[in-house]
Amino acid sequence: MKVLGIETSCDETGVALYCTERGLLSQALHSQVELHERYGGVVPELASRDHVRRLLPLVEEVLAQAGVARSGLDAIAWTEGPGLAGALLVGAGVGAAMAFALGVPGIGIHHLEGHLLSPLLSSDPPTFPFVALLVSGGHTQLMEVTGIGRYRLLGDTLDDAAGEAFDKSAKLLGLGYPGGPQIARLATDGTVGRHALPRPMLHSDSLEFSFSGLKTAVATLVRRGLDDESARADLAAEVEAAIVEVLVAKSIAALRRTQLRRLVVAGGVSANRRLRETLSAACADAGACVHFPEPALCSDNGAMIAFAGALRLQHAEPDALPRGRAIGGFVVQPRWPLESLPAI
Ligand code: KG4
Ligand code: ZN
Repeated sequence: MKVLGIETSCDETGVALYCTERGLLSQALHSQVELHERYGGVVPELASRDHVRRLLPLVEEVLAQAGVARSGLDAIAWTEGPGLAGALLVGAGVGAAMAFALGVPGIGIHHLEGHLLSPLLSSDPPTFPFVALLVSGGHTQLMEVTGIGRYRLLGDTLDDAAGEAFDKSAKLLGLGYPGGPQIARLATDGTVGRHALPRPMLHSDSLEFSFSGLKTAVATLVRRGLDDESARADLAAEVEAAIVEVLVAKSIAALRRTQLRRLVVAGGVSANRRLRETLSAACADAGACVHFPEPALCSDNGAMIAFAGALRLQHAEPDALPRGRAIGGFVVQPRWPLESLPAI
């Protein structure tokens, strides 16, 4: 089965073609970073309009790359939510229209399920059950995952997400958007321990996160003045270390609490090198293994949506697959709890 995946939930237009027999056949991505950079964050209306411009050419590019005609598609999957309502509507509209025109099933996919399952596309895929750490621009969640759609929330953020903490700290440091990669780059020239930043909720028993105090502490240090470029690099290193330390401690606590020995990390922040290295070492110490998505699949992309769509369609009852109609209809869900998904 060949499934076309469409991702338009935020500031990346991602399209990919996944084949259940041959794996990922092709993918293409357009990042809107340059479009939003001067505003210091994503402008929803600009995002939607750019998705409209980019999506169909990217679909053509992906089909051409794979040498597959539109008539060769067996299903269409798109991101149904969570995300920006207008941006989601572009992908859902095009996806549902293609399914209707081609007479194939269409399916709306939960963006976080896409992220969560993306490590299964790697050469060394994890097996169920595992603990998942989902770290993106909008979410920071620990989940106990026992199968597809079997997600139990263990911990969530009470305020800012980890990616948001990177982005807001970067803005305070005068760095561009998105902030995570820029903080990580500046941090390589800095030294941890030269500035004091809190590690919010590090020693609490709960698996909840809170990152807004970190942003306030960074704002205070910036307001007091950073002497030179090396002081800025030291602060970037401290921000990165603080966020990573909390993510690692809570992930290890979640493994201990669930008595599982496998951790899967996904979402944009899973690209962070310090997080990868520190988690790998901590998991080795705890006798657990850790899986990350391929670097190209950490941030938003069409491949994870095509893949999640293929898995769900493969397990769907045949009469739940009306040809040319979307399962669940043509809807978008800007807010959508991951635990509400049906198990398969
Ligand atoms: O998953 P994603 O691409 O989009 C959302 O679904 O939100 O995640 C984007 C987030 C941004 O906050 C970005 O700053 C962060 O991931 N990010 C990073 C790195 N690369 C992306 N954070 C830290 N280090 C990185 N290397
Ligand atoms: Zn994402």
